[in-house]
Amino acid sequence: MKPIERIHNLKAIEWVNDRVRLIDQTKLPGELVYLELSDYRELVSAIKEMRIRGAPVLGVAAAYAVALGAKAIENGSREGLLMEMKKVYQTIVYARPTAVNIKWAVERMRKVVEDTKDVSKIRLALVAEAKKIEAEDEEANRSLARLGAQLVQDGGTVLTHCNTGALATAGYGTALGIVRAAWESGKKLKVFATETRPFLQGARLTAWELLKEGIPVTLITDSMAGHFLSRGCINCVIVGADRIAANGDVANKIGTYTLAVLARENRVPFYVAAPTSTIDLSIPSGEGIPIEERPPEEVTHIGRVLLAPEGVEVRNPAFDITPNKYVSAIVTEKGVIRAPLGKGLSKIFKEGKGG
Ligand code: MRU
Repeated sequence: MKPIERIHNLKAIEWVNDRVRLIDQTKLPGELVYLELSDYRELVSAIKEMRIRGAPVLGVAAAYAVALGAKAIENGSREGLLMEMKKVYQTIVYARPTAVNIKWAVERMRKVVEDTKDVSKIRLALVAEAKKIEAEDEEANRSLARLGAQLVQDGGTVLTHCNTGALATAGYGTALGIVRAAWESGKKLKVFATETRPFLQGARLTAWELLKEGIPVTLITDSMAGHFLSRGCINCVIVGADRIAANGDVANKIGTYTLAVLARENRVPFYVAAPTSTIDLSIPSGEGIPIEERPPEEVTHIGRVLLAPEGVEVRNPAFDITPNKYVSAIVTEKGVIRAPLGKGLSKIFKEGKGG
């Protein structure tokens, strides 16, 4: 097999010459294709089609979408702009409902619009804020990765699900950031990556990122996880999150709950890695987190190949909820939070530090 070229500082998204440039993740690992978008509606479509995906980078994309949306509004008055921006915010927030980073970023951008009294300065202020959100996300990932790396055993094997790497964030990654930091600190480790049906983020993206870094990775189907956990082949499970409720329940890629239950049954620690922008204290428990249902074709097809009989009924929830009792710790940039998770989460928001 042709070795995959090592690319350092992979940027899933960037603001370049008044446009947004992003890696089209649906084309990976076959081709590294960049899209350049100047209309916020095109960016919203790219989000819906999962050309860009992963909660933290969706927050960055949402922020750039707001900046593009404001640029396109010709209304010269402040009131007119504020009015037209409402539609922009709404279109972006509904693009993907589970990843709270989208809503979080739009709220931050809305505040910039409201706080900038001089209308001629709003557009530039929005671009600056979106760049700040991007930089802060990478910084948060590097910090949480450093903290989380201490939980990874030298010589151990980490099982991860979906893709939580540089592609899913502004840079470095969350769960995969922890793997990266542990590896960079000199720990010898191996990764088992689940393929992550139906969209195959593990097979297509996580395997690609880890091979590129030279970190040993073994690809398994989702249904093999119990087998390897029960045989003592896995030392810990680390996953990301799309939204963490106030009590520590975690919404993440479909199949995460299954892994958490299997990890508990086999006495393997189950860690969740996420920046604080993924924590939603306004939702008391996982029950209140909206779960995105995606098109049936993602289940009936692989790529363009139809696998199932035409007309079969399909369900395709993109995420599930892992109850807090299965989570050994949540790793954030502000600290590692252990049970009781609810108390630890409110503490980091109150005091700006973790337990
Ligand atoms: O549907 P996706 O690919 O956007 O789902 C991604 C996940 O579930 C990730 O685990 C999560 O967003 C964290 S990414 C750092």
